Amino acid sequence: MSARILDGRALARRLNQALKIRAAELPRPPGLGVVLVGEDPASRVYVRRKGIVAERLGFLHRQHDLPADSSLERIQGVVAELNDDPAIDGILVQLPLPGGLDGRLVTEWIEPDKDVDGLTTISAGLLAQGRPHLIPCTPLGILRLLEEAEVSLEGLDAVVIGRSNLVGRPVAHLLEQANATVTQCHSRTRDLAGIVGRSDVVVAALGHPGAVEGEWIRPGAVVIDVGVNRLEDGTLAGDVGFEVAAQRASAITPVPGGVGPMTIAMLMENTLRASAQRQGRPVD
Ligand code: GUN
Repeated sequence: MSARILDGRALARRLNQALKIRAAELPRPPGLGVVLVGEDPASRVYVRRKGIVAERLGFLHRQHDLPADSSLERIQGVVAELNDDPAIDGILVQLPLPGGLDGRLVTEWIEPDKDVDGLTTISAGLLAQGRPHLIPCTPLGILRLLEEAEVSLEGLDAVVIGRSNLVGRPVAHLLEQANATVTQCHSRTRDLAGIVGRSDVVVAALGHPGAVEGEWIRPGAVVIDVGVNRLEDGTLAGDVGFEVAAQRASAITPVPGGVGPMTIAMLMENTLRASAQRQGRPVD
């Protein structure tokens, strides 16, 4: 079998076009405030991409670049300013923060209504209770990719490999709420190969290239690869051994061009949603 490639880039493009039209219908444009602390090259690339897409969709976009040695008070001041700014509907502090700064603490300063990353304790708690408000962007993008691929999750066995607050935990909640039976694995899991081999849906979010071997994939499974790993030769690779997995799976996301573009599209969707709500407009 040769898997269908789940093209996140194409789906994100279509979703972004629809978001642009909906944004133009609001009394004022959705506003996204981005805080970038330090010089981490990958973070700078991600933040730049988010800004480009926001502007392309006609959103107001404000970016605050702070030096790596910023005090917590300085960062708190910037987040407070964005919280108080009526033109800003969504706030994102790019993670990880540089040396010693506590990303969890900083994230909590964001007003829950503007938490377009879905990372505050309130957003995470609402999702865990099955009444989500703003859902983390990568997990939401994964569910949209599965929807697009017409994968009905009802009763399927799904495995999530990784337990981060950004991806692993929230995506496990979403899959369970879509009536999949979810096993959550992590770096200490004993029989990862066996669990993957029994699963209809595999979500790999470990951040180690090739951590999930292609041979483990059950024939016909759907594989979602969240990993973005820079190899020594400069190329990008996911967490799953793609070549072999693509021979066994029924559908698989490529890296790059799978989950990544969906994360940005979902950030825009969350910002539009927060904006519509704050402007008293119906939220789909
Ligand atoms: N770092 C990597 N991905 C993300 C994300 O989705 N949101 C934030 N805030 N930081 C990230």
